[in-house]
Amino acid sequence: MAETKRKILATYALPYANGSIHLGHMLGFIKTDIWSRYQKLRGHECHFICADDAHGTPIMLSAQKQGISPEEMIAAIQKEHEADFADFRIEFDNYHSTHSDENRELASEIYLKLKANGHIKTRTISQLFDPEKSMFLPDRFVKGTCPKCKSEEQYGDNCDACGATYSPTDLLNPKSAVSGATPVMKDSEHYFFDLPAFEEMLKEWTHSGSLQQEMANKLNEWFEQGLQQWDISRDKPYFGFEIPEAKGKYFYVWLDAPIGYMGSFKNLCDKRGDLNFDEFWSKDSTAEVYHFIGKDIMYFHSLFWPAMLNGSGYREPTNVYTHGFVTVNGAKMSKSKGTFIKARTYLDNLDPEYLRYYYAAKLSSRIDDLDLNLEDFAQRVNSDLVGKLVNLASRTAGFIKKRFDGKLAKLEDTSLVEQFIAKKDVIAECYESREFGKAMREIMALADIANAYVAEMEPWKLVKAEETLEQTHQVCSNALNLFRILATYLKPVLPRLSADVEAFLKIELTWESLEADFSGHEINAFKVMMQRVDMDKVAKMVDDSKENLIVTTPKVTEDKSVEQSSNPLADDPISDTIQFDDFAKLDLRIARIAKAEHVEGADKLLKFQLDLGGETKQVFAGIKSAYQPENLEGKLTVMVANLAPRKMRFGISEGMVLAAGPGGKDLWILEPHEGAQPGMRVK
Ligand code: 2FM
Ligand code: ZN
Repeated sequence: MAETKRKILATYALPYANGSIHLGHMLGFIKTDIWSRYQKLRGHECHFICADDAHGTPIMLSAQKQGISPEEMIAAIQKEHEADFADFRIEFDNYHSTHSDENRELASEIYLKLKANGHIKTRTISQLFDPEKSMFLPDRFVKGTCPKCKSEEQYGDNCDACGATYSPTDLLNPKSAVSGATPVMKDSEHYFFDLPAFEEMLKEWTHSGSLQQEMANKLNEWFEQGLQQWDISRDKPYFGFEIPEAKGKYFYVWLDAPIGYMGSFKNLCDKRGDLNFDEFWSKDSTAEVYHFIGKDIMYFHSLFWPAMLNGSGYREPTNVYTHGFVTVNGAKMSKSKGTFIKARTYLDNLDPEYLRYYYAAKLSSRIDDLDLNLEDFAQRVNSDLVGKLVNLASRTAGFIKKRFDGKLAKLEDTSLVEQFIAKKDVIAECYESREFGKAMREIMALADIANAYVAEMEPWKLVKAEETLEQTHQVCSNALNLFRILATYLKPVLPRLSADVEAFLKIELTWESLEADFSGHEINAFKVMMQRVDMDKVAKMVDDSKENLIVTTPKVTEDKSVEQSSNPLADDPISDTIQFDDFAKLDLRIARIAKAEHVEGADKLLKFQLDLGGETKQVFAGIKSAYQPENLEGKLTVMVANLAPRKMRFGISEGMVLAAGPGGKDLWILEPHEGAQPGMRVK
């Protein structure tokens, strides 16, 4: 029975127009691309929409620094982004910019409707102001001494050294990161979106669809904390859209960014003529709208955005699909380790289809982080794509071409083909529900069956005798039909490879053609379709990423200010618990306390020299209340040996000691005993 044709709009979070695309971004783009390619393969009307996110203070300042206009800068970056996406075969139906006429009109219209409906409030607030630059300073553009641990050079929102969160006015000795001037406090009228008025609507929205469990939990938490008014205005100078009827006030970048999804779609509608904007965005729309995003921007997409749409008379998104972050080799992407890999650096060294497959193989519908382990990456791609998939054709195609006029046989036994086709609904459901990892496992299990069949039949032996020639034809035709089905299943993930397969088999791989009969069909000669991953190239990519240390990406990015009393985006929105992998990252070692001494001016700190069996580390620990330092020397403790060094007021601390007990005076440290030696790992 033919399925009804769905109308779908899919978006991925708009990347900022002041930095290069890296492999962290690519996870989301590849995920959304696979999903929308799958929808198109199933014959649905699916539009994949994106744009550059072009506004905000960091973009304005970055252009200033380069001595060019923001318009020039965002145009150059957009060109770079689009080239990266095209080379990764991200098939957008439209790629636009938030700095566009469509977006300006929609942002103004939505704002004016919100205002007319009573959802915009004004209030005067006092903020730090750079008197030299004549501009208000976002939190991330004020630096000073942490009010808690006294570390210097900390940002205005939180301290890298002790993790404290505070407001920029709490910083000691604050300085503008733009000019170095000492900021002053200044009043200004701000415009607020009345988010609390949408609490009931948002609760209803969250219950209407099938939100990811983690997302539902997070939303409940935010509802419990209470929703706050959201500051949507910024004073000039600002690169963005001026607010209608409010001279010198601009929309905060996060107001017009999601509207950019609509702006880009509007641009597509105007270009095409056969698409109707209202059919997708009007209140009574029956089309489906999905936003794919990373977990750091859930608040914007699941609270502000649906509320803004609702308050201005538009439909809400059907769902918001959130993914986790990418780690490389088990750790946060790092510029010094060469694991902060830009899309272009990857493309200069490796085939994009490798990464598309690897990400697909590890993606699920959950919000877990995804580790790109470079060894595992090479091994998985080589084993699955080269060893199992391409090998199936390379071992059998030559015989068809040379011995059977390039024509496929009429299959006498179709049981394997039927077995493969029988999996189509399971695989379809995996794609639909974004369980791509499961889909890849299903497909590779079939590839194993096909390869076992060829290995058992040994066509290279059969071909040698006249009486088994027909059987050779059967085996090779069977294998190529199985190969065709596998390539069809993989088409959303591997667009280049499937195009090569289409050229080789002289057919278009479609869902409908899965069941077609290819008896007597003539094929082309087989050409190599994929090389094995070369670890030297992987190493070179990592090396090249180290060389890229002088990057165009400014250290300061847009603050995600949401006017919550405790900013929910300051902490990782998901990780209330840690995964086993997180625990496994801890390098726990037995350390001998070689030296312990008081720290002048500190109430609770002791300074330790810890002997790890050869290596000595300096650690500051807050356990003075329990111990006299002289009693600790010579004792053993467990330390976290791979904690990043932390600059403290009294010096650098290179680890953390673990002690047990309720705190205060009751803390216990190990007595030396047989078996525990400094440097030993604790497992
Ligand atoms: O966090 C970011 O990178 C933003 N540029 C995402 C914007 S998504 C949408 F709302 F525009
Ligand atoms: Zn601090």
